[in-house]
Amino acid sequence: MKIEVLSLFPEFFSSFLSQSIVARAISKQALEVQTFDIRAYANNKHHQVDDYPYGGFAGMVGMIQPLWDALLPRILEGNAPVIYFSPQGRPLKQKMLCDYAQESRVILICGHYKEIDQRFRRLAVSDEISIGDYVLSGGELAAQVFIDGVARLLPGVLSDINSAQTDSFYSSSLGFPCYTRPSEFLGQQVPDSLLNGNHAKIAEWAQAEARLLTRVRRPDLLSDKDR
Ligand code: ADE
Repeated sequence: MKIEVLSLFPEFFSSFLSQSIVARAISKQALEVQTFDIRAYANNKHHQVDDYPYGGFAGMVGMIQPLWDALLPRILEGNAPVIYFSPQGRPLKQKMLCDYAQESRVILICGHYKEIDQRFRRLAVSDEISIGDYVLSGGELAAQVFIDGVARLLPGVLSDINSAQTDSFYSSSLGFPCYTRPSEFLGQQVPDSLLNGNHAKIAEWAQAEARLLTRVRRPDLLSDKDR
């Protein structure tokens, strides 16, 4: 999968891309990420990329020209979904990451300031995504959330893909609690159910724990009959 990122702060991505699962996805050639500096495409003398909003509102708006000129060469290379990160977008869910992980190429647009010109969104953007009900200073962190979430789903990246399938949100519930050695620490024991080697019983335990946690913390994820 190839991800092309348009940002005013491409440097934001250098450490992120060199660590952990994302770095592994890149080294295994399951993922390629290329960043592009939107400012380099501004055709005015001072490389201005934002301007005052029409209507006299507060804040600055990302200008359409640098965004358009940064995107055009990417689009000419071939058709790909263009995602813009914004608090106004649809809330990001695991299912969306699974769907995007099937794409061979995706283009991500990171805005800054108070949104970008609506005409760019209308002309060029195929999907708008929010990572939560809060406002960040720009789309870079949201794009990194997206890249991380997709990278770990690409074939060959996780050593055991079953691990992803028991994550939270796979079966409309949160994940179950996990334990590792030692079996006792400061008087705290690992649950007996995990120590008896009975795989059917262990699976039953995990399902019951996941359901309990989901009922308490995220009842909105459960159907009416499970709530
Ligand atoms: N940009 C600023 N805030 C954001 C959010 N909550 N989600 C996605 N992109 C954003």
